Amino acid sequence: MATIEVKVPDIGEFRDVEVIEVLVKPGDRIAPEQSLITVESDKASMEIPAPLGGVVVAMKVALGDKVSRGSLLMDLEVSEAGEAAPPPAGGAAVAGGSAPADAVAAGAPAGARVAFDAAPAADVGEAPAVPAADAVGRSVAAPLPAGAADAASDAVVQPHASPSVRRFARELGVDLSRVRGSGPKQRILHDDVRAWVKALAARADDPGSTGGAPGVLAGLPPWPQVDFAKFGPVEARPLSRIRKLSAANLHRNWVAIPHVSQHEDADVTDLESLRTQLNRENEGEGAKLTMLAFLVKACVSALKKFPEFNASLDGDTLVLKRYYHVGFAADTPNGLVVPVIRDADRKGVLEIARESAELAAKARAGKLMPSDMQGGTFSISSLGGIGGTYFTPIINAPEVAILGVCRAARRPVWDGSSFQPRLVLPMSLSYDHRVIDGAAAARFNAWLAQLLADFRRAML
Ligand code: COA
Repeated sequence: MATIEVKVPDIGEFRDVEVIEVLVKPGDRIAPEQSLITVESDKASMEIPAPLGGVVVAMKVALGDKVSRGSLLMDLEVSEAGEAAPPPAGGAAVAGGSAPADAVAAGAPAGARVAFDAAPAADVGEAPAVPAADAVGRSVAAPLPAGAADAASDAVVQPHASPSVRRFARELGVDLSRVRGSGPKQRILHDDVRAWVKALAARADDPGSTGGAPGVLAGLPPWPQVDFAKFGPVEARPLSRIRKLSAANLHRNWVAIPHVSQHEDADVTDLESLRTQLNRENEGEGAKLTMLAFLVKACVSALKKFPEFNASLDGDTLVLKRYYHVGFAADTPNGLVVPVIRDADRKGVLEIARESAELAAKARAGKLMPSDMQGGTFSISSLGGIGGTYFTPIINAPEVAILGVCRAARRPVWDGSSFQPRLVLPMSLSYDHRVIDGAAAARFNAWLAQLLADFRRAML
């Protein structure tokens, strides 16, 4: 056994550089090339790896110390058989002029203190400019060229982190550009990476949490914590189970699907006359015919004409469905639910009206079964009973489109020679742009508007 002094090697222009990490401690058994400390200049950080394997006897530097070439780093006990790294090519950078491995292997007397320089591994970007193994094995003789680090770091603006933090982040698959550094000059520390991963895991466990979306909001400032009571009276109302569930699903759909909303007006003057006339004729004979029922039927017709709207993405495959189960958003005291009218293509408007009324009543009574809400291929969100003009409905994954409608209103419509008072229904179609092109969406809407303007077309 021999105890050697490990010193800072030639580190080029790095002089009086700060020790920003001490990566080993007394008693540690270290391998050749293992990083011992990280030093940092104004523009780059650099790890100093061990020239030999052994056991750390004593550290001679601490965090914040300033070191230069020749500064003593540690006392290292090495076996005489040698746990040495390959001798450096070019043979330089060994204090005292002897090659480290040779000196020990040649049988330096037990207890002798042999001073070795370690070889640096610089890091100025995401990938070390000089990989540690290369630095030890081949490049010791070539100190980091002055300015090389500066040039590299100027060329690519990288997160400020030491090589070991970069390596740690790489192991965990963490993109450092998303992590906020809490060290001096916003340097990212190991603890920052750990905290980022923990926060991500916590959000993944609680996807419905306010202000959290795994992998999307990560790296943004934390959600503002405000004591609202400081500003006025407040009431804390816990979210219902349905609201929490729908919030989580809506959030996922909003962040995961590239939504585009396409708006269109449909002239429903004649359709509304037909609807009210039929309702008068059938008064007291069961379900009222609703605009929603006509919309379901019209959408089925459009879905048949444009099958990619009645589909789901499965990886790189688009699954086109040959069944037409249309969901509709129902507003309930506990939040939004989407019951599904199955096989809407095989049902008449009256049957759809009856079924949607039953499902809406069940929804409001909180009595929907999971099976009532499964299997949808397309959804409709109708705010027609309430008001508004246009909005951007959120797609109900794994569907690829949703139609939102607002309140129909009389508007002056130019018929070529004069303005006519027409009942106009504002429609908003949101679609998944990964699957549907804007032109297809415009065609879908135009077809739907034509159909609603002249419902006889639904028979075609
Ligand atoms: N334009 C004008 N009037 C409309 C209309 C429209 N587009 N849609 C409905 N109306 C009228 C109806 O004719 C009815 O009037 P009436 O009582 O004089 O006959 C009135 O508005 C109420 O209709 P509504 O209760 O909305 O019935 P519906 O069958 O049209 O809709 C639901 C049923 C379940 C869709 C609806 O009650 C509901 O919950 N909508 C909210 C959906 C929602 O929250 N979406 C947002 C998701 S982000």
